[in-house]
Amino acid sequence: MAAILLGVSGSAACFKAAALASALTQQGHEVQVVMTAAATEFVGPLQFSCLTGKATLVDEFHPEDPSGMDHISLARASDLLVIVPTTANTLGLLAAGLAPNLLGSLALAFGATKPRLWVPAMNPEMWNNPAVQRNVQILRADGWQQVGPTCGLTACGEMGDGRMVEVEQVIAAITAALQS
Ligand SMILES: Cc1cc2nc3c(=O)[nH]c(=O)nc-3n(C[C@H](O)[C@H](O)[C@H](O)COP(=O)(O)O)c2cc1C
Repeated sequence: MAAILLGVSGSAACFKAAALASALTQQGHEVQVVMTAAATEFVGPLQFSCLTGKATLVDEFHPEDPSGMDHISLARASDLLVIVPTTANTLGLLAAGLAPNLLGSLALAFGATKPRLWVPAMNPEMWNNPAVQRNVQILRADGWQQVGPTCGLTACGEMGDGRMVEVEQVIAAITAALQS
């Protein structure tokens, strides 16, 4: 069983991250959730704490670790980082190597040798925007594993690319990444 860092950014697909946290925990993994402030507008941190049995982290400046450096200790202690869902904004900061929040700091501190997965979810116009596609290419070149998106009805009611894949597909990708 693995120590999994589950990053959650602010998308209408956040409810799928709750289902993922539940399934991974039931499989016996240790799941530590780190949310962006925007993500907490969609699903409360307490929901994830209930599902994982671990305090959900949001604020870099109110850490759990006595050293004050959650982003370093968690990055070191974890086997895999997965960001579900990944917004266009969080994709942009990952591509740029920015760390304006705990999730960004963690992603940088996590390094590039352990598996890093990202699971996009956004409106089709956003997904097809050249700036977003440019960032997708950067993450690929940086060794991030992309899971989805798929074509279908997105939460905003539009059909097209950008719909987040189902939880089962994310679990399959995580399982494969942990075995490789
Ligand atoms: C109702 C609603 C749904 C949203 N859904 C998405 C989404 O699915 N994907 C996305 O990239 N942004 C979405 N956004 C915009 C993000 O929440 C916004 O860009 C936010 O700044 C992202 O911050 P974060 O990346 O730090 O979580 C949505 C905003 C609202 C109000």
